[in-house]
Amino acid sequence: MLDKFSLRKNKKEVGASTYSKEHIDLSSVPSHIAIIMDGNGRWAKKRGLPRIAGHHEGMKVVRKIVKASNEIGVKVLTLYAFSTENWKRPQSEVDYLMKLPEEFLGSFLPELVTENVQVRVMGNKEQLPAHTMRAINKAMIDTKENDGLILNFALNYGSRFEIIEGIKQIIKDTNNGKLNINDINEELFSEYLMSADLADPDLLIRTSGEVRLSNFMLWQLAYAEFWFTEVLWPDFEENNFYQAIVEYQRRGRRFGGI
Ligand code: IPE
Ligand code: IPE
Ligand code: MG
Repeated sequence: MLDKFSLRKNKKEVGASTYSKEHIDLSSVPSHIAIIMDGNGRWAKKRGLPRIAGHHEGMKVVRKIVKASNEIGVKVLTLYAFSTENWKRPQSEVDYLMKLPEEFLGSFLPELVTENVQVRVMGNKEQLPAHTMRAINKAMIDTKENDGLILNFALNYGSRFEIIEGIKQIIKDTNNGKLNINDINEELFSEYLMSADLADPDLLIRTSGEVRLSNFMLWQLAYAEFWFTEVLWPDFEENNFYQAIVEYQRRGRRFGGI
């Protein structure tokens, strides 16, 4: 039904870029890329469409960027799909966003399976509707044995919630003798977060011109390179993605050294 919106989509608004896969140094591709996929609502508004049309369009971009990531050897792609603050939105929009995983996985799960992608979800799953959970559980089970790209959706994710939950669990484990207070260090703390067995993101991308983290991976992004673009998420294309990576590769990461 929503596909009629795509037909009304204007031609690309961002000038054709010169960036392609060939510009990337394949020996230093960021292992973990995290993306704050923002601007769906504004994309729709500009076209006189309901906000959900922007979310629908954004789903297609996810597919493109997953493919591109896989091709260049990215190990982990974390996508911010719904924040713990996004419940403040109108119920109809929240309902649509909670249906997106089913819609996305309904169309693309077979492709993810054959492309050796492993689907994961980090966030407060207890608050998710049963139908959303069913779709993501199926995807996680069906791709469990895949050992290619890890596609990690941050769904009902909030970094402050994650940190507080981690602290509570550490206190429990300390009280029941599993942990000694002297064991608590940065490495151990990371293991109590929802990203437990993932390395920290190397590159953070945010679309739509907003320059903030919006409660995303506050601990894990301590030393990530940030890259922002005015491009709205539904307009984001492979060449924008490649540009982010090329610019990442031109930077000198020092981690406090010289
Ligand atoms: C990002 O697009 C998607 C989600 C936050 C779920 P937005 O819906 O935030 O779009 P804008 O920022 O209103 O344009
Ligand atoms: C961040 O975008 C959350 C996601 C992209 C899922 P928002 O659009 O919710 O962030 P704010 O409200 O502009 O900070
Ligand atoms: Mg937004």
